[in-house]
Amino acid sequence: METEGSMDESNSRRSKQLLYLKLAFLAMEPSNCILSLAIEAGGGCITPQVQNYIVKECLGETMKKTTVKDPAYIKGILKKVIAFVVSSSDSVVDCLYEELAHYLTIGGGPPGDNNRIYREISFLSPDYGKDCSNSVNLVASLLCSSNMLEGDTGCSLWPSSLFLSEFILSYPEIFANKSCFEVGSGVGLVGIALSHVGASKVTLTDGDLSSLANMKANLELNKLCFNVASDFTDPSAQKVECKHLAWELATKAEFQDQQPDVVLGADVIYNPECILHLVRVFSIMLEGEYFGEVKREAPVAYIAIVIRNVDTFNHFLTVACESRLSVVDITSNTEVPNLLPYMCSYDRSNVHLLRVSPVSE
Ligand SMILES: C[S@@+](CC[C@H](N)C(=O)[O-])C[C@H]1O[C@@H](n2cnc3c(N)ncnc32)[C@H](O)[C@@H]1O
Repeated sequence: METEGSMDESNSRRSKQLLYLKLAFLAMEPSNCILSLAIEAGGGCITPQVQNYIVKECLGETMKKTTVKDPAYIKGILKKVIAFVVSSSDSVVDCLYEELAHYLTIGGGPPGDNNRIYREISFLSPDYGKDCSNSVNLVASLLCSSNMLEGDTGCSLWPSSLFLSEFILSYPEIFANKSCFEVGSGVGLVGIALSHVGASKVTLTDGDLSSLANMKANLELNKLCFNVASDFTDPSAQKVECKHLAWELATKAEFQDQQPDVVLGADVIYNPECILHLVRVFSIMLEGEYFGEVKREAPVAYIAIVIRNVDTFNHFLTVACESRLSVVDITSNTEVPNLLPYMCSYDRSNVHLLRVSPVSE
């Protein structure tokens, strides 16, 4: 017989699994991930309760958004869920069929302009499950490329920026009231996390113009204003600067007005041809004495990286060393809680976190 305590436990486990299912759906996780979360939430099958939850909570929440929806994605999920329920000889609730019929009639073309998809990335509170605090800490709304063809790599979301954002949200004291500068910002997620923890200034940069345009759209989506002259009039909007910065063309003079305390980069070490230029940018930004006569604490950089090619990474280490930069892999001694446990597509196990600082004399 179930005791009151074990019933409470199983209820809270089920609500957690249902929350994961909804967050994965809003993040547009792959359909096999949604399917397995739905099966888990139903305790091994997709029960009528879970099916109703998908319709009311997942689809219901999606319909509330004013941004672009992807009918093809929703159709794919509904088909998979129904196929699974039928193959398990369970019954499919009517509203699930009705939703599928609806999405079949509206077609499944590309989701809006420029092959963009709308993803909502919800970072759970680090204390979720431990107490009654709010379960979600930050929701970042992002337009991302639905394919890898446009905007080079900067219109897609990469595991390194998810990890760097988890790090920022878990260690807000490193970034609060600090001036932060990011290179190769892509969709702008790290900037959203930095604003959330109260960085005094956030500057995001990218060398790719279509990525920069997409990043600005994302900042507006998140009610962050992207430059002084913007006609975006929400007075509560926090300012984040977006700048075009191609590492190859970067000059010291360009950084005269920048005095960052923290420099960041996510998944920017992958192209051997760019390493020299990238390290030069980091060297300039980390040069303590460059910032006038006032002696100030030397800035520090945090880079999140997936090492895809060891030679490229070693080349980065060599060039950094020649530029008198110390690079320390702090992954193993820095506990970064998993704030995205529902994202099956996100493999955080091979992301490294590097701390880069000038070599002290
Ligand atoms: C793999 S993506 C990572 C994007 C984002 N930081 C993330 O992790 O989701 C690499 C980013 O670096 C930018 N990038 C690549 N080479 C660059 C260069 N030479 N100068 C400036 N930006 C560059 C790309 O446009 C892209 O936004």
